[in-house]
Amino acid sequence: MAKNSIKVSANVADTVRPKIAGAKKHPGWHALRTIAERITTPLLPDDYLKLANPLWSARELRGRVVEVRPETVDSATLVIKPGWGFSFDYQPGQYVGIGLLVDGRWRWRSYSLTSSPVTSGPSRTITITVKAMPEGFLSTHLVGGVAPGTIVRLAAPQGNFTLPDPAPAAVLFITAGSGITPVMSMLRTLSRRDQITDIVHLHSAPTESDLMFAAELAELARNHPGYRLRVRATREAGRLDFSRLDDEVPDWRDRQTWTCGPEGMLTAAEDLWSSAGLKEQLHQERFAAARTAVHGQGGTVEFARSGKSVTVDAATPLMDAGEGAGVRMPFGCRMGICQSCVVGLLDGHVRDLRTGVEHEPGSRVQTCISAASGDCVLDA
Ligand SMILES: Cc1cc2nc3c(=O)[nH]c(=O)nc-3n(C[C@H](O)[C@H](O)[C@H](O)COP(=O)(O)OP(=O)(O)OC[C@H]3O[C@@H](n4cnc5c(N)ncnc54)[C@H](O)[C@@H]3O)c2cc1C
Ligand code: FES
Repeated sequence: MAKNSIKVSANVADTVRPKIAGAKKHPGWHALRTIAERITTPLLPDDYLKLANPLWSARELRGRVVEVRPETVDSATLVIKPGWGFSFDYQPGQYVGIGLLVDGRWRWRSYSLTSSPVTSGPSRTITITVKAMPEGFLSTHLVGGVAPGTIVRLAAPQGNFTLPDPAPAAVLFITAGSGITPVMSMLRTLSRRDQITDIVHLHSAPTESDLMFAAELAELARNHPGYRLRVRATREAGRLDFSRLDDEVPDWRDRQTWTCGPEGMLTAAEDLWSSAGLKEQLHQERFAAARTAVHGQGGTVEFARSGKSVTVDAATPLMDAGEGAGVRMPFGCRMGICQSCVVGLLDGHVRDLRTGVEHEPGSRVQTCISAASGDCVLDA
């Protein structure tokens, strides 16, 4: 029996990525590709494109890591030059999927974009900023083991944790640790648009030296009187106490608030804003799905379409189970928010890892946050 266990995705196969963003904007290219497909068999057009430039692919989004810039002792910013098909009109606060080839397999995770969307110019890049998680698989690779020049796969930007344009007059950001990343894209965008009017930003990090983007944030505060940053070094000052938010930000009820950080902080914020009847003013981003205690034995998962099956424990997400067995599983956020991974449950027993609720055969399940609670058959 596994309790509160977090399954580490060590067996991630080459899975189904979201379609290339902007493909519809290039119908001519696709017509050419279709013709090329007919005349270049057995090599696909993609094979020729790859020979010419590893960033060119009509099938998948790619990017080249051009720089890895240390932020703190355990975090780094990766500057990535996306290849053909990447849409630069993402919204500040959105995230991308990053696929990295490690030990012969593509491993995928989601990372908030820290760059500000720039829609023109010849050398456009995006940035993500990664904190190496203790014992985390991909984050440690991204922070410490990726050389400039590495080709990564990309999934198109997505997510609803975004800032409207124009921004609200009064804004509150509450962030902690790596939760500052989507807000950094917002701040950079607001600064570029000259829209910093009245922003209070409460940020928590274990110590001052763990603060990502420290120099840039200090400069923002110097240059914009409307941006008030308060950094809390939690190892000394303790965590932000939401029951005392009135002392910190007396007018928080009058502000649109964006918050991103650990689960405990997000739940405390949710409770406070709900009890004040202001939930619609609170925008939250979670980097990990909260899971309930996991009981039971798991079972054999049968993937009806691909004819594969695998036996797993009760804590392993069906997505990981499928990927480990070499099934092409659709995915997006990998943490229960985007619905990209939904497949039909044809038969058997599946449980939602967040709520512990059992799904009925005939229903559709999010494979990234559901696990076998007995034998089951999926339409995948
Ligand atoms: C929308 C979204 C945006 C995100 N944006 C960012 C971002 O901007 N920056 C960022 O740094 N992260 C971000 N994340 C989190 C990121 O996607 C990864 O989840 C994170 O980097 C950890 O990946 P990993 O492969 O290192 O950890 P995994 O190997 O997947 O492990 C997950 C967790 O399990 C723990 N773990 C691993 N092995 C063990 C073990 N043996 N025993 C116990 N625990 C273990 C790890 O410490 C980690 O906490 C975001 C996530 C989402 C969903
Ligand atoms: S991949 Fe987003 S909900 Fe499952």
